[in-house]
Amino acid sequence: MLRISVIGTGYLGATHAAGMAELGFEVLGVDNNPAKAAALSAGRVPFHEPGLPELLAGHVAGGRLRFGTSLVEAARFADVHFLCVGTPPGVNGAADLSQLYAALDGLVPHLTRNCLIVGKSTVPVGTAEALTARIAELAPEGISVDLAWNPEFLREGHAVFDTLHPNRLVFGVTTPDAEWALRQVYTTPIAAGAPVVITNLPTSELIKVSANAFLATKISFINSMAELCELTGADVTLLADALGHDDRIGRKFLGAGLGYGGGCLPKDVRALIARATELGAGESVDFLRDIDAVNVRRRERVVRDTLELLGGGIQPSGRVGILGAAFKPLSDDVRDSPALDVATRLHAIGLDVTVFDPAATATARAVAPQLVFAATAAAALHEADVVLHLTEWREFRDLDPVFLRKVARGRTILDARNTLDPEPWLAAGWDFRAMGRLVEARTPLPKSVPSPAVRDRQPEPARALVAPSPLNRLRARVRRTA
Ligand code: UGA
Repeated sequence: MLRISVIGTGYLGATHAAGMAELGFEVLGVDNNPAKAAALSAGRVPFHEPGLPELLAGHVAGGRLRFGTSLVEAARFADVHFLCVGTPPGVNGAADLSQLYAALDGLVPHLTRNCLIVGKSTVPVGTAEALTARIAELAPEGISVDLAWNPEFLREGHAVFDTLHPNRLVFGVTTPDAEWALRQVYTTPIAAGAPVVITNLPTSELIKVSANAFLATKISFINSMAELCELTGADVTLLADALGHDDRIGRKFLGAGLGYGGGCLPKDVRALIARATELGAGESVDFLRDIDAVNVRRRERVVRDTLELLGGGIQPSGRVGILGAAFKPLSDDVRDSPALDVATRLHAIGLDVTVFDPAATATARAVAPQLVFAATAAAALHEADVVLHLTEWREFRDLDPVFLRKVARGRTILDARNTLDPEPWLAAGWDFRAMGRLVEARTPLPKSVPSPAVRDRQPEPARALVAPSPLNRLRARVRRTA
């Protein structure tokens, strides 16, 4: 059976290493940070990812998975080496590839047998070709080293599932041997039906960045519609529902609100702009600048609204209670987090900001030590003049608005993620605001309107013939909230 090394054990690498062990391989994970390697060797995952600690610890204990710091050891150990190092933003948003080159420099001269190196990191198109040249310079005499690209599409918060059940596998290869080796590695998911796309190196690199750019485009598209909804009294969540019923469009990633963040979407959009510009094709991705701009505007909008809610003025003051710091739920990642960005901007303006997040307090405190972090949602809202819901953790939907009304000083909550049910908040006396979503108290059903169960058995009236009337609007609303 093939032996696998995973170089770089951050978010992607640690998950991939555990996933490969789960698929039955002997795996060595290598990281140049000894503390990280030691933690993983002890079965501890240094970030929040549901299900990963159990998977990783199980395979470490079982002996199939181990971690170290030596690329020389990896060179001797494995037949397939996965490169999972970071490619953070460098100058002008272009990806910094230094960790990839450092990994090759440490690995390739020490190889003792023919092998396959597989890039998983997200890179600008053309990187694999440049790395191929570097490998040729470094490879020991008589050793044949192939390079393939196999981008990763896992989502934080669902990383284990996505690794074991990929929705597609992309193999950028230049030789049949490389394709054969990758098919061996992914035998189990392929047998389970995962579609495989075999292509060349540049296509595989572009598939990854264009996937993230497309997701960002969907989010900014719906957020630009939210801006129009805010001006016109239209409702962006119903708009998104209606668009989503068209399966050419789909409802996913049409969640309007505070916009996207994290270590991938914002960085990949900017890196694609930078790479296209470098290639002299800046025009081809000009629209992505707008995608980025819409996204930035959402954060500014929340800051502006908060200041207005606090009465505006030259020297704003007041207490803001913030729910959420992570860039999304089920994660403690605060890289380019919209929530934390809003919190730090409000603090910089001079407001008294207290933040609660179910998982990201430590990571948020490390990058924003100037903020106050509370141990519970209620503590964050203590005497708050305004409440902001900035990360849509599931548990925030279960908060008790009646109790929180007594805790907070003000009575305004801005749901910047459009995921809270306004009803209980309104019923508890809150002034509930959203982002492009209409918020109105649910009107009690008049006796003459059939109950949803009865209504559902009745034939729909021909839509085109139905004039808008208060009753029809009410029916639409009942249908939506049923
Ligand atoms: C993203 C991609 O979804 C993964 O497929 C990809 O593998 C990964 O980047 C990567 O390149 O490593 P991730 O960064 O974990 O995954 O986060 P997403 O679930 O894509 O969410 C990104 C941001 O968009 C979050 O801030 C989220 O709150 C926001 N979002 C998402 C919205 O504002 N609206 C939506 O409808 C959906």
